[in-house]
Amino acid sequence: MKFAAAIFILIASFAAQAAPAPLLLDLDHWMQWQAQESVRRIFANISPNGAMRGAVIASPQQQGPDYFYIWTRDAAVTMNAVLDLDLDALEAGATNDIFEQALADYVSFTRHQQQTQNQSPFGAGVAKFEANGAPFMGGWCNPQNDGPALRAGILMRYAQLKRERGESTQDLYDGTSQSPIKSDLEYVAHHWQDDNCEPWEEVHGHHFYNLMVQEKAMKEGAKLARASADPGAANFYEAQAAAIARDLTRFWSEATGAFIPTLDRSGGIDYKSSGLDSSTVLAVLHSQFDGDAVVRADDPKFASTVETLTASFKTLYPINKSIARGVAIGRYPEDMYGGTNFLHGNPWVLLTAAFANASYKIAVAKWNANDATQAKLWLARGDAFMERVQTHANPDGSFSEQIDRDTGYQLGARDLTWSHVEVVQAARARSRALAIITH
Ligand code: NOJ
Ligand code: NOJ
Repeated sequence: MKFAAAIFILIASFAAQAAPAPLLLDLDHWMQWQAQESVRRIFANISPNGAMRGAVIASPQQQGPDYFYIWTRDAAVTMNAVLDLDLDALEAGATNDIFEQALADYVSFTRHQQQTQNQSPFGAGVAKFEANGAPFMGGWCNPQNDGPALRAGILMRYAQLKRERGESTQDLYDGTSQSPIKSDLEYVAHHWQDDNCEPWEEVHGHHFYNLMVQEKAMKEGAKLARASADPGAANFYEAQAAAIARDLTRFWSEATGAFIPTLDRSGGIDYKSSGLDSSTVLAVLHSQFDGDAVVRADDPKFASTVETLTASFKTLYPINKSIARGVAIGRYPEDMYGGTNFLHGNPWVLLTAAFANASYKIAVAKWNANDATQAKLWLARGDAFMERVQTHANPDGSFSEQIDRDTGYQLGARDLTWSHVEVVQAARARSRALAIITH
């Protein structure tokens, strides 16, 4: 059986009205309802009024905080999800014009960004862009070199789909640095060793998250360059991928049992003493596509990192102590960013959902290794994380960035695109895990 038959298909529509709020739903029904609602809200943040076509805004909120910008990272993880949804729909023989249009618009928007990015001294590494596609020129933690790697990653997957359909991919990769994919690959190849900021935009140094997505981009880039009769680039990207993979072996701590988020710190905040950070889990999730990642879901170090981090957040946030559900997950224990202030950090929707996704992927890996007991255990852990998300979800299906650590209410930038993306990815991972793991 092809698993597409067993999974639910999410569709995109431009319906302005929210679906009716459900009454108390069990996890199965809530996740199906919420995932569909999250897709609708993701699409509300793609090409919204006031932004260029193809722009993926981080959130519609324009003050306290202002998230009406295009972060290269947020946009790439979003378009990755759109491509996943497109592939799910194609596999089920469903129509998908809205997904396809969004992907085409993203390519045009990327080209526009790449034509303006050198207005910034950080070039492709500039963290975010204005709604009109110009680089943000104000003070910010720059450069963030995960962005171009993530963007190359999604564009290469899209190119692969087009090739399979016999369509031309000249507009994506033509062997010159003017084409969107090669432009980003060249940037990554020449800058992965640079000092830069991590995804939380607070620390300068070398980072597990950035290097993981950069290694993936170089490895996939080498394959693409070779298939595109660009052997010089292929060899160069392969050498970079190997060098990054070697460097990544430094980022494991036997002492904590978790991946190390940052080494060679050169600036930024200095109070991250635990050495624990959820970006290391995102690193694995965001470099998994098409197999072949340095760290995969079946790596015991990944499961150990998820467990170590979960234990640390379990005792940190009051809501985790008072409600018997899975653990709400934050960025790192010492976080001070409260979404609207700097009093203290909170759990995040996108991270709690990402930990569910990670658990479902570990469950499948255990199942494939013939360990049914562990497979079911991780499946249950995944569901516990999603029950936690459900407990604090708004009844209308909207999500903000954070969950108030004391009250459990949604907090910070409203309808954060990335929150919805990770919820959709958790729902997709769950339906796959359920189709594979038999009870
Ligand atoms: C805003 C960033 O988005 C957030 O990640 C960070 O914690 C604060 N600025 C402080 O740098
Ligand atoms: C703050 C987060 O730390 C960062 O990762 C993200 O890119 C921006 N907010 C925008 O969502």
